[in-house]
Amino acid sequence: MKSFKLNNGIEIPAIGFGTWQIPDGNEAYQAVKEAITAGYTHIDTAAIYGNEKSVGKAIKDSGLDRSSLFITTKLWNTERGYEKAIAAFEKSLNDLQLDYLDLYLIHWPANEAQFENWAEINADTWKALEYLYQQGKVRAIGVSNFPKEYLKKLLETATVVPSINQIEFHPGYLQEDTVALCQSNTILVQAWSPLGSGRILQNETLLKLAQEKNTSVGQLCIKFALSQGILPLPKSTNPQNIKRNLDIDSFDLTESDIQRIRAFPEMGFSGSDPKKVAF
Ligand SMILES: NC(=O)c1ccc[n+]([C@@H]2O[C@H](COP(=O)([O-])OP(=O)(O)OC[C@H]3O[C@@H](n4cnc5c(N)ncnc54)[C@H](OP(=O)(O)O)[C@@H]3O)[C@@H](O)[C@H]2O)c1
Repeated sequence: MKSFKLNNGIEIPAIGFGTWQIPDGNEAYQAVKEAITAGYTHIDTAAIYGNEKSVGKAIKDSGLDRSSLFITTKLWNTERGYEKAIAAFEKSLNDLQLDYLDLYLIHWPANEAQFENWAEINADTWKALEYLYQQGKVRAIGVSNFPKEYLKKLLETATVVPSINQIEFHPGYLQEDTVALCQSNTILVQAWSPLGSGRILQNETLLKLAQEKNTSVGQLCIKFALSQGILPLPKSTNPQNIKRNLDIDSFDLTESDIQRIRAFPEMGFSGSDPKKVAF
């Protein structure tokens, strides 16, 4: 598996396995086991997904050396603030049965729709992540769903520059301003819903392009994210799709294919605008 190098020098496998909406218990356990068997070494979960225990069990049972895996989880919105964030981190670590994390993210910023002091809350939460990083409990720290203005504000007080911003990104939803700010500040962008959570898989232009390349729309979307210097996190519980989503070297995307995809009008947006969400 290829990798990206983060701004603190650590390597992160270039495709991660997403686990949102995979129920805790056998389903999450089997999906993660299947993914590891297929060759994923990078797993993305979150406290709010409710499946950290099963993800952790699958990791443990894989028998792989801990250092060969890259595990991410995220701080949920109810746990913002310095003390609560540290406690939430410890709970996630415990649920995952791990003694360190590779990446810990603030899942969503406190936003202006809910908090007058949103910037202060985010700065305070970030301090907790900096502390965990400095203690060596996590190898890299980052944010998720931080739009350009929120990231700029955070950078004013941060002593550690986030390594990652995990945002919605797929054909038809490129968030160009946020991506540009991240990329000019050495912050790697991760694509959540790189397949538009399934909403863009029937797009006719993508289907046609996939057919021309003898591949699937899912694989095309994954390769497209990578072509933009963005790390995709495809999710699947289907063993065939799990394998397929790593098989992206059998076709090429030309500059003209990429421009065609970049030119799509907005489609497949989840509807979750970080500045407006009420959670
Ligand atoms: N930070 C955040 O706020 C945030 C928000 C959303 C998501 N995420 C992360 O991003 C990950 C991915 O996003 P997502 O779960 O929304 O969706 P996604 O990966 O964009 O799409 C998943 C959907 O596509 C289907 N699929 C996967 N591979 C396929 C293929 N090769 N061919 C056809 N269909 C395929 C899956 O069905 P099958 O299971 O049947 O294959 C599922 O319905 C999440 O799991 C999570 O880890 C983060």
